[in-house]
Amino acid sequence: MKFKSVGIISLGAYVPENIMTNFDFEKIIDTTDEWIRTRTGIEERRFCSPEQATSDLCIEAAKKALANANLTPEDIDMVIVATCTPDYQLPSTACIVQKKLGAVNAAAYDLNAACSGWIYGLTMATGLIKADMYKKVLVIGAEALSRSLDMQDRNTCILFGDGATAAILSEVEDGYGILSTHLGADGDLNGSLIVPAGGSRTPTSEETIEERGQYIKMKGQEVFKFAVNALPNAASCAIEKAGLKATDIDIFIPHQANSRIIETAAKRLEVPIDKFYMNMKNYGNTSAASIGLALNEAHEKGLIKKGDLVAMVGFGAGLTYAATVIKWSY
Ligand code: UT7
Repeated sequence: MKFKSVGIISLGAYVPENIMTNFDFEKIIDTTDEWIRTRTGIEERRFCSPEQATSDLCIEAAKKALANANLTPEDIDMVIVATCTPDYQLPSTACIVQKKLGAVNAAAYDLNAACSGWIYGLTMATGLIKADMYKKVLVIGAEALSRSLDMQDRNTCILFGDGATAAILSEVEDGYGILSTHLGADGDLNGSLIVPAGGSRTPTSEETIEERGQYIKMKGQEVFKFAVNALPNAASCAIEKAGLKATDIDIFIPHQANSRIIETAAKRLEVPIDKFYMNMKNYGNTSAASIGLALNEAHEKGLIKKGDLVAMVGFGAGLTYAATVIKWSY
């Protein structure tokens, strides 16, 4: 049985206006611009304004994606929001987006695969469209991570930023679109990157607040070691599933966590580093938004054209990993 070809038909991105530089961090914690730049590649990131939540970032990105596709909100029949910083525990951020956007014909749900969420979301959308269950799926990767950062913890607060990216997926010209995906998880490492309190395991209490349990805690080196293997392995699996070699790929769009992780992955894949698009310098690690923000920027710069082979690859809390290969269709 031959399935239809499914791909991204438009993109849209949004980052909050408020810029937080490494120098701003020098004023509040024991760190330096030099340490952050050389260890991570990050120079600045965007933080939400006090009135903004994740759904607000989603709406801005989604409006751009709809306009770029010449579609109306009514044309969308499924909204998937990949996020680990939802507006609320209940309801889903996707339902708030569905309402604010006016996507009255759409089902809506959230997906949490942390920084791998963007590729997990694209994969879910592709499966639903290939199965003829939905026609136009809006996938959004969005985070307001600044709300979950402990501004007293220099190991984590300098890494993350806020933003959103939206993609609309639908049937595309035969042979184009998503050629393969590879998703995975290693739940053994679920404690490596965690918000320990506020869930059903440890509900919020005076004690958890005193211990600052509502904020992200990370074993940085554990995640680093995982990432330098997961990134090239996941990319290789997706590339092989597509019947290609790493050298066939025109552009790699990796998760923008750390330039050193990406440099190691490029060496292991034996691909020149200049084939890896990086923009963590300006946005930091925006988790589920990160790969999409880089993809959108590379596309807007004209670095991705119809027929190009694009490999996206990421890793994140869970720990999770994900990769996909796309033959770009527009
Ligand atoms: O989406 C997934 C998100 N997570 C990641 O991608 C994280 C992966 N891990 C990493 O990117 C790196 O492990 C970090 C950038 C987080 C840390 O870099 P590192 O080279 O692994 O540093 P380290 O944790 O080994 O720390 C080295 C030193 C320590 O000081 P001592 O013990 O050697 O005196 C830290 O206390 O650097 C210190 N340090 C800092 N110094 C200045 C840690 N954070 C900072 C900081 N400024 N912000």
